Parts: sequence; C-alpha cells; structure tokens
Amino acid sequence: MAQHDLRPIIEVRNLRKEYPVEDETVVALERVNLTIPQGQICCIFGESGSGKSTLLNQLAGMEKPTRGGVKIGGVPVSKLNERELAAFRQKHIGFVFQSYNLLPNLTALENVAMPLMFRGVSKDQRERTARAVLKRVGLGHRLSHYPRQMSGGQQQRVGIARAFVTKPEVVFADEPTGNLDSKTKAEVMAMICSFARDFNQTIVLVTHDPQMASYADRIVTLLDGNIVSDRANQPAISPSTPAPTPTQPSIIRQQSTISTNQGASR
Ligand SMILES: Nc1ncnc2c1ncn2[C@@H]1O[C@H](COP(=O)(O)OP(=O)(O)O)[C@@H](O)[C@H]1O
Ligand SMILES: [Mg+2]
Repeated sequence: MAQHDLRPIIEVRNLRKEYPVEDETVVALERVNLTIPQGQICCIFGESGSGKSTLLNQLAGMEKPTRGGVKIGGVPVSKLNERELAAFRQKHIGFVFQSYNLLPNLTALENVAMPLMFRGVSKDQRERTARAVLKRVGLGHRLSHYPRQMSGGQQQRVGIARAFVTKPEVVFADEPTGNLDSKTKAEVMAMICSFARDFNQTIVLVTHDPQMASYADRIVTLLDGNIVSDRANQPAISPSTPAPTPTQPSIIRQQSTISTNQGASR
C-alpha cells in the first residue's frame, strides 16, 4: 500500500446526476458517496456508460450535480461559480486527457510552460521548470517540437508534464492511455504514478482497462451510476523514472491548505 496520510482531500456526498434527453431523464449517477485521502491513486473503474466520466466531471466542477456535492480540500467545488472554479483549477488541479488536448501551435516546451503563466511565474522560470519536467518524462530532446511532430505516446508525455508542472494537489485523468499501445500505456501510467508518489499528489484515474487499474492503490467500480465495489489494490510495481532535476522551489512547493483565493492566479 502506498504511503499517504489519511486526510481526506476529495469528499463526495450523495451525488446524483441526471441528464434530460428529449422527454426522458438519464440518471448517470445515482447516489455516489466517496472519500479519497490525499496521496491516493484512486481508480474509477467500469464499463463504457457506467458513469465514470460523469463522476470525474462533477469532481472537477465541469458540471453541476443534480443533487449532492463535492468538496476538494474542504472547498465546495460544486457550488463555485465559473470564475471561482477557473481560479481553483489553475491553483490546485491538473488534467490528463485521452486525446492529449495540447495546443497545436505551441511547442512542447510552450505547452508545458503555459499553466505556470497563469500563476504569474516569470518567463525564464517557466521555461526552466518546463524543461526540467519534460526532461523527466524523457522528452528533453523534443522541446521545440510541435504536437503534430510527435507520436501519441510523446504527446501524452507532454500532457503529463503539463498536468504536473504546477504540482497540483489533485490530478484527474480520464482514460489517459485510451489511445496508446500497451507498451506506451505502461510507460505513461508509470510516469503518472511516479510524479504522484514523489509529491504526495492525489490521482483520480478513470479507466475501463484492468491493466491500467492495476496501477492504483484503490479501485472503485461503477455500474449504472452506482458504486458496486470499492477495494484496496496492491499497485503494480512501476519502474521509477529518474529523479527530477531540482526546479524552482516556489513553484513546486505543495500548498498545505486549499482556498478559493484568486489572488495568485489572476
Ligand atoms: N451530456 C449528456 N447527456 C445525456 N446523457 C449523457 C451525457 N453524458 C453522459 N450521458 C449518459 O450517462 C451515462 C454515463 O456516461 P459516462 O459518464 O460518459 O460513462 P463512461 O465514462 O463510464 O463511459 C451514459 O448512459 C451516457 O449516455
Ligand atoms: Mg468516459
């Protein structure tokens, strides 16, 4: 079992999500209760249509629940307005997407440096930090490549570098290996886990793939919008990536408390 303290960072209470579809109502989540402690790699597992992405969208505040609520670090994300949410995400949350979502007109280095801009980090420092993180994911030689000049696996490594560059408390990953071959999948998962372990970050990993779920500390299975199983998992041993090059401490320092204060993120 991984070492994490038991301080809850994500708290989901009686969460329900309905979508109106024509005259009907699709109940995507029925009554979900879930507490995720800081530092845990928690997998939301289930077949297609079971409600995984819906749950992740509620956790990250992308959508408002029909009922119930989500708190992250004590902050009721499901009650924040768009502006507060944007600031909250910039400060505390990282995302890794199945389709990478890199900006096509920016180089690898620029893509990774981008989230630091929102934090008011100087250009010099942004580039130094982004370079160090890209090196860590094995792309030190691809800094000035554009997304279209990279393989899927390389693009996802840029995506991971971008998600972790600000050392967010929580990283959400929705099918991050969905478009990758099995060798690259394993590399990508090992990288995500290695970052998370080094900085005691919490990962919520959504997948339908048992191989990917095996990297998690805990596997929560959804079926038809309900949690049908919640169990601890002995994570697959992941080959650690090299230790990070020391970067700017002010950037990588974990915040000990989460607030909606927008001061530093504007
Ligand atoms: N925006 C939406 N409008 C209507 N139905 C939706 C919407 N998003 C998801 N659903 C429905 O909610 C259920 C769960 O979907 P989803 O969370 O995407 O599942 P998963 O990510 O596990 O494949 C499915 O039945 C899906 O069709
Ligand atoms: Mg999905």
